[in-house]
Amino acid sequence: MGRAVITGLGTYVPERILSNHDLEQLVDTNDAWIVSRTGIRERRLARDDQATSDMAYEASARALADAHVEASSLDFIIVATNTPDTLFPSTAARLQARLSEKPIPGVDVQAGCTGWIYGLQMGAAFIEANMYQRVLVVASDKLSSIVDYEDRSTAVLFGDGAGAVVLESGPAGTPFGILASYLNADGRGADLLALPAGGSRSPASRETVDSRLHFLKMSGNDVFRFAVKALPEAVEVGLARGGLSLQDMDLLVPHQANERIIDAARRQLNVAEHKVVKNIERYGNTSVASIPLALEEVRQDGRLVDGMVVVLAAFGSGLTWGSTVVRWGK
Ligand code: ACO
Repeated sequence: MGRAVITGLGTYVPERILSNHDLEQLVDTNDAWIVSRTGIRERRLARDDQATSDMAYEASARALADAHVEASSLDFIIVATNTPDTLFPSTAARLQARLSEKPIPGVDVQAGCTGWIYGLQMGAAFIEANMYQRVLVVASDKLSSIVDYEDRSTAVLFGDGAGAVVLESGPAGTPFGILASYLNADGRGADLLALPAGGSRSPASRETVDSRLHFLKMSGNDVFRFAVKALPEAVEVGLARGGLSLQDMDLLVPHQANERIIDAARRQLNVAEHKVVKNIERYGNTSVASIPLALEEVRQDGRLVDGMVVVLAAFGSGLTWGSTVVRWGK
């Protein structure tokens, strides 16, 4: 069984910055509240003419260049997103058309903010089964397209961005690559974080638009309580599946939803502060993209080095949660 190795990583964030002070002009909020309750100071917003697949393309092009491979050599494309360009066709199909003239199979994965972790396990499984040799796993979300900028309880939290990795079948006996994965979901919490209308349950109508049901709704306190349990569990189960313990973990790259959630999980796991990656301050919650964005940041600043055991752990709408355990290097 070949192991799936990350051979390329690329990310993209839009240029436009929405600061806490900008938000003060839109809703009844203030910088001090946002910083103390979430850790967020600013987030990036895509242009109106920029869709999820456009950000996905930028991140993918960088990941492919980093891996030194051509898009046409990909065997499969997975796009994790909660904000597809359109309900159908898939964002993966639109991305494929931008990346390569050659047809390549692909699919979208929707699993809340855990979507990229789901995509990584699926991509790794394709490779381990020897079905495909090279899989692009993309995360892209334009949350600003579904955030209600009249609702202060959610408007302050989210931002836009994208990330991507190339997964390839590693040489026999390689120490690097994806060591273990853990995924879970409990749909009893489905309505705690949802986009109520626009699907088959509640198709778009004048009434759904007037009721602002095409914007995401969240029961923040319930999601918070879920997250502070789910995040540590995802880390511990993922490590255990890889035959590892917390002592073996060199870096934890958690989903960036709220700094208080990350800090609570870190304390619960009793992990040193320098091992936990945080960049929520500058990007807010970019959903599926938050982990690859944080991963690229530590790679760039030199904190991520070959041989490290890195745990990527997420939670989100569904409710979903899970982790990927990687030995970094290729
Ligand atoms: N500015 C100022 N005041 C605010 C704001 C705001 N932006 N938002 C809420 N408040 C007020 C509330 O109205 C409330 O006032 P009251 O006491 O007079 O009623 C007070 O602040 C406290 O509100 P809470 O909702 O209890 O605040 P809390 O500390 O729980 O923080 C938050 C809210 C940040 C949303 C938190 O619950 C949270 O982070 N939850 C988890 C969210 C999350 O992780 N979501 C992403 C999941 S991943 C995915 O799939 C997208």
